[in-house]
Amino acid sequence: LAIWYQWTTRTELPELSKVSVLMRQRNKVENTLRAMQHAGPGTLQVISDFDMTLSRFAHHGKRAPTTHNILDHRLLIDEDCACNMRKLLKIYYPIEIDPSLTSEQKIPLMVEWWTKVHHLLIQQKIQRDMLAQAVQESGVILREGYEVFFDRLAELQVPLLIFSAGVGDILEEVVRQSQVFHPNVHVISNYMDFDANGVLRGFKGPLIHTFNKREGALLLAAPLPELRERPNVLLLGDSLGDLAMADGVARPHNLLTVGFLNDQVEERAESYVEAFDIVLVKDESMEVPNALLKFIT
Ligand code: TMP
Ligand code: MG
Repeated sequence: LAIWYQWTTRTELPELSKVSVLMRQRNKVENTLRAMQHAGPGTLQVISDFDMTLSRFAHHGKRAPTTHNILDHRLLIDEDCACNMRKLLKIYYPIEIDPSLTSEQKIPLMVEWWTKVHHLLIQQKIQRDMLAQAVQESGVILREGYEVFFDRLAELQVPLLIFSAGVGDILEEVVRQSQVFHPNVHVISNYMDFDANGVLRGFKGPLIHTFNKREGALLLAAPLPELRERPNVLLLGDSLGDLAMADGVARPHNLLTVGFLNDQVEERAESYVEAFDIVLVKDESMEVPNALLKFIT
């Protein structure tokens, strides 16, 4: 019976047998999926990071932009500001992904990075009306198969919480222009604050960076009525900090975590396999999340 059980599961989810898929405990993944399938879509919520999780890390061999990097457009910021933002990225991004540092060591540096960048942006008097064009011309692209992912969740009325340390206004514009901003989509992110003339004057609410998503989850996600009473969670992220996005779920029954390992693969594979249930190595598609959803629902 055990052999038959394994065999049926494996043929039902051939996507999990790809060489780019790493799992610490395949049995646990299969059991969680079966429990979620049994409980049905009415009990499910999906929590996903945005930059480099729903959006691609690279496309045609070139790095794709994050929501912050989309702001690097001459309509919005001058050359000087762009140069400073790129310098900060060069300093702080390696720290963000450094496997030899703990989150505690990274947190003050991440706060420093975000604060400096937001300060630079505020000085640029960015106009809200220009954001849509900057997104259009940015080359940002969601992972292959994103339409199936968003459309399926909308069809099943499963809430999708996009939880991002990026810039919320840009994120929403990307999702809108990709024509998948369905009513089941909720966004938690850093939102710009514009004055009466539509000029950027600050950012609203508490700062969200890569390693304080737990605080955001407790403060901002937990009270959302759409997410309450949905104890089964499919979580997608590309940073170890993204795992905390589910910390606002009051009494989780089943949690399945998927981590996109985009960069520094060899150095980080072990920590990712240890932390996420499923690790997708240099996979620019939504093939596996879509297969999981199809199986569960
Ligand atoms: P995420 O939570 O949606 O992944 O967004 C956070 C990402 O944004 C994080 O991986 C680092 C990235 N980032 C930039 O690319 N440029 C910046 O200036 C800042 C502050 C963050
Ligand atoms: Mg990310």
